Amino acid sequence: MKFLITGAAGFIGYHLSSNLLSQKYKVVAVDNINSYYDIKLKKHRIKLLKKDKNKINFSFIKLDLQNKKKLKHIFKQNNFDFVIHLAAQAGVRFSIDRPEEYIKSNVIGFFNLLEIIRYTKTKLIFASSSSVYGKTKQNSFSESQKNSEPLQLYAATKSSNELMAYAYHSLYNLCVIGLRFFTVYGPLGRPDMAVYKFSKKIVQNKNIELFNRGNHSRDFTYISDVVECILKCVNKYKNKKEKIYQIFNVANGKPEKITYLINLLSKEFNKKARLRPDKLQMGDMINTKASINKTKRFLKFKPKVKLNEGVKEFVNWFKKYHKI
Ligand SMILES: NC(=O)c1ccc[n+]([C@@H]2O[C@H](COP(=O)([O-])OP(=O)(O)OC[C@H]3O[C@@H](n4cnc5c(N)ncnc54)[C@H](O)[C@@H]3O)[C@@H](O)[C@H]2O)c1
Repeated sequence: MKFLITGAAGFIGYHLSSNLLSQKYKVVAVDNINSYYDIKLKKHRIKLLKKDKNKINFSFIKLDLQNKKKLKHIFKQNNFDFVIHLAAQAGVRFSIDRPEEYIKSNVIGFFNLLEIIRYTKTKLIFASSSSVYGKTKQNSFSESQKNSEPLQLYAATKSSNELMAYAYHSLYNLCVIGLRFFTVYGPLGRPDMAVYKFSKKIVQNKNIELFNRGNHSRDFTYISDVVECILKCVNKYKNKKEKIYQIFNVANGKPEKITYLINLLSKEFNKKARLRPDKLQMGDMINTKASINKTKRFLKFKPKVKLNEGVKEFVNWFKKYHKI
């Protein structure tokens, strides 16, 4: 099979591409390598993919999804079995400071992709997010519940993606699957996210700002479980000929308190964490907890990695990467 992976220099895109290469699939990777976080890490990920033992099956093209002409050209030159669309302006808090980036990448970029697959009929798996659940009061978030109260523009663009994808699926008989990822973490993870940010603060003996005074919990999901879920999706839908639209939560299903995460990190680094309690930040959700019943039933997905195991893997990588 041949895959187009958008956002392949990103955290999830890298791990997915690496797994696909290990199975000898062909991967065409695109990314605009934006500077939302350290581009050294993005370049490092691409370098690793270029050195993979199946590198013959890998090609990387620097591309911004706003460039529809170039994107169209890539589709003309390749016959993809799947597009796995992970490129996006990620980050919840940044969407308050730089909203235009979210419209450009998440709305226009996604629209360009849909406009192309409308004709090529390529199967699409795209990244949505737990943040679409927004202001919900439900204790456990399930795909069937209504969610029309996003807390920031990031969430609004991800909800828009789901609606845009539905419209294109329905009009042009496409196979489209949206995956709502819940707080993904692991080696080569994102520097703007809690696991990485807190690690850096612990190592540097700096204060960790404990937003909402630590009364947050997250459904932390380890990267290998996320990749496995995407692969299960590919296998389930690869031979289907009919039009399909599905949304799945991709999560561990077992939320943990932020303070528990800090304790685990502190233990792994063998260093005390310094905490500075702070107020709830604008646009933040307090708790996230997925119901993964549908994902289990449809995809036979079963998350395997517990937070303490995943944190250990992350810290091992972090120490090596930062030469600690
Ligand atoms: N990591 C998580 O916890 C999480 C949770 C929910 C949803 N998601 C979603 O999953 C996807 C992957 O997330 P990630 O954690 O790997 O993020 P990431 O930021 O590491 O990866 C996204 C990549 O997309 C690229 N990109 C952004 N705009 C682009 C554009 N216009 N054209 C081409 N490339 C562009 C970036 O340079 C980046 O390398 C994103 O859509 C994100 O919103 C992630």
